[in-house]
Amino acid sequence: MSVDAASRSDVLLSVEGLTVDLPGRTGGRVRVLEDVAFEVPRGRVVGIVGESGSGKTMLLRSLLDLLPDGARRSWERVVLDGADITSELPRRRLPAAMVFQDPMTSFNPLVRIGGHLTEVAQRFQRVGRREAMALAREALVAVRIPDPERVLSRYPHELSGGMRQRAMIAMALLAQPELLLADEPTTALDATIQAQILALLRTLQAERALTVVIVTHDLGVVAAVCDDVLVMKDGRIVETGTVDRVFGAPQHPYTKTLLAAAPAAPDEPATDQGGDA
Ligand SMILES: Nc1ncnc2c1ncn2[C@@H]1O[C@H](COP(=O)(O)OP(=O)(O)OP(=O)(O)O)[C@@H](O)[C@H]1O
Ligand SMILES: [Mg+2]
Repeated sequence: MSVDAASRSDVLLSVEGLTVDLPGRTGGRVRVLEDVAFEVPRGRVVGIVGESGSGKTMLLRSLLDLLPDGARRSWERVVLDGADITSELPRRRLPAAMVFQDPMTSFNPLVRIGGHLTEVAQRFQRVGRREAMALAREALVAVRIPDPERVLSRYPHELSGGMRQRAMIAMALLAQPELLLADEPTTALDATIQAQILALLRTLQAERALTVVIVTHDLGVVAAVCDDVLVMKDGRIVETGTVDRVFGAPQHPYTKTLLAAAPAAPDEPATDQGGDA
């Protein structure tokens, strides 16, 4: 998808000097992010890749204030939409919502999908129950769920993995984020459904002028749906750039290793849509 030069230079979020440490499992403290700096250009789909334990999840969680108990987070500078908001953090929340790998752990199994979605709509859009239900229905239509009424009345375990992930994305949309963060959103799904969910994220980005950040282990996913990529190793970002540049001419030795270890040149676009009920 081509992006014009004007939107290319438009930065939604810029973070400098982000450092996070956690209480270690055997005492002491563990530094999980070290002086991380990155920019998220508006209206782009940004991939974050890197080996297991490199800090990808902690990076997303630190943006949403969802770090584990006892975590310490500091940053030198955070700029949102051109405004320096460093001194307003952590009171001020970023306009972001998150989609997790396994929706089963994010949905309360005893609450129907309609209950989850209306709660978010009521909280974030300050509407009453009736209007929240209408917004929930709309959100399910937006994620291409063909029969929203049926899905609203279902419990999370009654849906297929793909439908559950669509419902989770609908719930995130109801928070009206500018920035949608997705942590391995398709790892738990089979390949066909995975392609559909990725195509959906790409479509939503365009339809809703969202900015999307996707954490993934899969370089094929990055090649198929991302515009830009951040490469992480040991709690640091070692390389950033457009996917074309980073995949075409990697600079950092770790990026070169990562690409050399990838199965094959992954250039199939994910275009499949809908129908995974
Ligand atoms: N609750 C926790 N307490 C202490 N350390 C943790 C905790 N959760 C994660 N870590 C450590 O923080 C570091 C970064 O973890 P993180 O989950 O961000 O990695 P990741 O890149 O998302 O890995 P993966 O690809 O496996 O999901 C790792 O060293 C991990 O062991
Ligand atoms: Mg992770």
